[in-house]
Amino acid sequence: MVDPRIRLSEPTIGDEEANAAARAVRDGHLVFGPDLPAFEAALAAAVGAPGAVAVSTGTAALHLALVTAGVGPGDEVWVSDLTFISSANAITYTGARCVLVDSETESWNLDPTIVADEIRRRARAGLPMPKAIVPVHLLGHPANLEPILDLLVEHGITIVEDAAEALGSRWRGGQLDGRAPGSVGAFGIYSFNFNKPISTGGGGMLVARDPDDLARARHLGAQAKIPNLDYRHDAVGYNYRLSNVAAALGVIQMQRLDGLIARRQAIAIRYRDAFEPLGLGSGPDASWAARSGWLSSAVFADPGTRTAVRSALDARGIESRPIWAPMRLQMPYASCEILGGGVATTIADQVLCLPCSAHLTETQQDEVIETVQHVVRSA
Ligand SMILES: Cc1ncc(COP(=O)(O)O)c(C=O)c1O
Repeated sequence: MVDPRIRLSEPTIGDEEANAAARAVRDGHLVFGPDLPAFEAALAAAVGAPGAVAVSTGTAALHLALVTAGVGPGDEVWVSDLTFISSANAITYTGARCVLVDSETESWNLDPTIVADEIRRRARAGLPMPKAIVPVHLLGHPANLEPILDLLVEHGITIVEDAAEALGSRWRGGQLDGRAPGSVGAFGIYSFNFNKPISTGGGGMLVARDPDDLARARHLGAQAKIPNLDYRHDAVGYNYRLSNVAAALGVIQMQRLDGLIARRQAIAIRYRDAFEPLGLGSGPDASWAARSGWLSSAVFADPGTRTAVRSALDARGIESRPIWAPMRLQMPYASCEILGGGVATTIADQVLCLPCSAHLTETQQDEVIETVQHVVRSA
């Protein structure tokens, strides 16, 4: 398929964003300007974090968070096996070694029982602990962190939440009721690339609970330049800043966040209601989570049906995509230690992500649904 009519997940950008970007350009606020602190403040307020640092990508945010947390060569970092490769790459950039944690079936995210069992086993045997853990909130569904929070803190394991996909989601009930993914660990990160819940055409944000960590991340992400001294730097920093023009888009996207999320949630519910009678799942939906609806998916027990549905959608110019292959199947991470079994691989074999842009029309969604129905009923 060369140019799909209906894409998987596109940014919803309008005149307001265009005007904000144009205003930033006209005012000479390309690189620095008032939109950067405004975007950071809006995101921090939305997720309940004390502050935020805007950066050029979600991957940069993750790398910066890990470096600020002191992760470096020789360290071990645990990360969800089922994720986009950036989660693992950012760990590798630091020189640390990834250990992959298998998924649980309920949320598809890292299994807290596996994490807890391994920490307790190591504690009993006097073995070293990981320096950090990167739980990913896959497809915007919050990971099941509550059962392991105290244990991680007790053993000094820094939590760096990869909430790249999870802006607009919440935990529901329990100790984390109402909290936003990304706001619970020492660090959390978000992505604003083209397909995310909001987009700045490319961008990311880091939040941290400790103001000193935030200040350090801001410093390192801006080339570690010493203030008020020309070309003097006190560390190996990174050129990770977001431009003010991108932030101008972000400010408007944040104002529209609730509406964009409501649309994606409505789309997810329509898929669920259509797929249930067909015996298909429609993505993780744990009772303890209110997820943003990024991304919608269908779950096929039979891989052949998934392939047939994808071809049929393709033939009608509708983009769909399998979920990410787990890290254990990716060449750079194929030899990593794995904690747990093969749940992540099973999930990856069954899931097809479906169009769910906030501006997807009901007619367009009906086309997707009818195609799935047709293939499944004739299988
Ligand atoms: C789970 C996850 N982590 C990290 C990233 C990296 O974000 P970015 O593309 O902004 O670098 C993405 C998105 O691409 C992602 O889906």
